[in-house]
Amino acid sequence: MKKIPFSPPFISQSVIDEVNQTLESGWITTGPKVKAFEEALALRLGIKEVIPVNSWTSGAILTLKWLNLKEDDEVIVPAYTYAASALAVIHAGGRPVIVDVMDDFSIDPEEIRKALTPKTKAIMGVDYGGWPADYKPIYQLVEESGINFEMRGENQQRLGRPLIMADAAHSIGAERNGVDAGKMADISVFSFHAVKNLTTAEGGAIVLNLPDDFDKQETHRWFKLMTLNGQTKNALEKSQGGNWKYDIVLPGLKINLPDVLAAIGLAQLNEYDHILSMRKEIFQRYLDFFRGKVWTITPEDIWKNGTPSYHLYPLRLKDFKESQRDQIVDQLTEKGIASNVHFIPLPRLSLFREMGFRIEDYPVADQLYQSMISLPIYPGLTREDQEYVLEHIEAAVLKVLS
Ligand SMILES: Cc1ncc(COP(=O)(O)O)c(C=O)c1O
Repeated sequence: MKKIPFSPPFISQSVIDEVNQTLESGWITTGPKVKAFEEALALRLGIKEVIPVNSWTSGAILTLKWLNLKEDDEVIVPAYTYAASALAVIHAGGRPVIVDVMDDFSIDPEEIRKALTPKTKAIMGVDYGGWPADYKPIYQLVEESGINFEMRGENQQRLGRPLIMADAAHSIGAERNGVDAGKMADISVFSFHAVKNLTTAEGGAIVLNLPDDFDKQETHRWFKLMTLNGQTKNALEKSQGGNWKYDIVLPGLKINLPDVLAAIGLAQLNEYDHILSMRKEIFQRYLDFFRGKVWTITPEDIWKNGTPSYHLYPLRLKDFKESQRDQIVDQLTEKGIASNVHFIPLPRLSLFREMGFRIEDYPVADQLYQSMISLPIYPGLTREDQEYVLEHIEAAVLKVLS
């Protein structure tokens, strides 16, 4: 029987060469490779202020720490996301306020409007599956809200409104209405976790796109210092003879990306257009197959005016209940096909339930969850594998429906 994994990393010879060269160079933690990766990312994104970090989660915590959150400060997050989106808020000292999403999986501006209070310090959109949330209406509703937001600390006061933040864990390379991921929110955070489109095994990057009132260079410097203990010199700089003295100027975290991981990302970034085109080809094949089948809603039906990064192919099964969806996942597993469900809505998870969130208050997120399956999509999934996946999905769906 065939074995089709869900999302193995794409490791080309150039990744292996770049990592080997780093291993042999005598320097494996933060140094020249991270610098090169940061510069390459900045060039690709068209934004100078990029801060590589060791995960999306750590980057998001640091971003929210920049806002100097205090207990009871609120950050609005969508119900349909990975838990890290809300956990980052808790770790930064704030309180997640969870709101429902729309049929395209992204945060619902109307729900944000209802959840805004003077204590709202940030609003986080999630670029689900590589489809960017729509940030424009979020800026607009904040502006029009008439709420006198409580602003504490220098950065909040300079901003004068809640921070608009993008959980861009999935969306590097995507665009919506002609604007690229990374440029839609005040601050975006990418993930380079092992299953992501572009990986460093574990890693991420914070990308600043703040209003002009901010001193961009100074803010960039603050973020960089905060990734490395607030220390004025990194380990490489200190290791140069006679340069051992350093100062600690901020209460920093230790969330720097090491060179050996940046090497993977650097090689992947050089071939990212090719990676995206391979993903797109599979996505298109799936679309061509599912288009017109009455039992599914395709991404084409819900993702308009943009180009996703093809991170997920969310198969939406019309009006399916959880038990029917689970039967299909089981039948695919029996055929050696690994699938997945993105995501279990936050209010269905114990931690958030215990905080008082009830899934009944999130009908759209819950319906999406009960009726979706993420299909394998990655470079290296052959045409034959794709046909095998499609054939067995159709058979499983027809069986469940009969
Ligand atoms: C939407 C979303 N946000 C955040 C994360 C966390 O990313 P990381 O593992 O890099 O911290 C993930 C990872 O799965 C994710 O899917």
